[in-house]
Formats: sequence, structure tokens, C-alpha cells
Amino acid sequence: MDGFVKALQMSEIIQGRGKIVILNGHEIAVLKSGEKVYALDNSCPHKGGPLGEGVVMGNMVICPWHGWPFDVNNGHCSINPRASVSCYEVKIEGDDIFIKL
Ligand code: FES
Repeated sequence: MDGFVKALQMSEIIQGRGKIVILNGHEIAVLKSGEKVYALDNSCPHKGGPLGEGVVMGNMVICPWHGWPFDVNNGHCSINPRASVSCYEVKIEGDDIFIKL
């Protein structure tokens, strides 16, 4: 086992948006920007907003509740250095998206 779990398919995510998936009890935001897909913890560290319902602008996902931006590459919040979310490795095979937990 390489630790990757099938999450969803590329065709299920709209460009610049995301989907929320639950894998092994973890709620994960799967986000699409360009040809790349990113996976972050879904819960915003501010007040728990769903990052998977946010908009992706370049390398940032914007929390839909109060607008905190998080870097999809490392989970760091650009306006609050103490706030960050965990990131997960993503693998794409054909149309399938796998996430390493
Ligand atoms: S809950 Fe995300 S910015 Fe407030």
C-alpha cells in the first residue's frame, strides 16, 4: 500500500473551485487550479469555514466565510502567519484523483 486513497474524478471538479470529500474520517478540500489538483484540510482554522467551497485564485484558496486566503501548496494563511491547514499529496491517474493520507 502506498497510502493513496481514491478521492474522486477530475471531471467532478470545476476549474477554480473544489469539492469536499471524506476519506478515512478526514474532511478534505480537493481544489483545482489550472491543470493541478490540491488537497487541504477542509476546516478553516479561523472559524471552521469549508475551504472546499472556496474559490481558487492562482495558488490561493479563499475561505468562503470571511475571506482568509490559504496557499494551496503549503496550507499557510497569507494574512495570519499563525494560521495554516494541513496539505496532502495528490496523484492523478487518468481521470482519477488519489490522495495520500
Ligand atoms: S472561517 Fe474561514 S475566514 Fe473565517
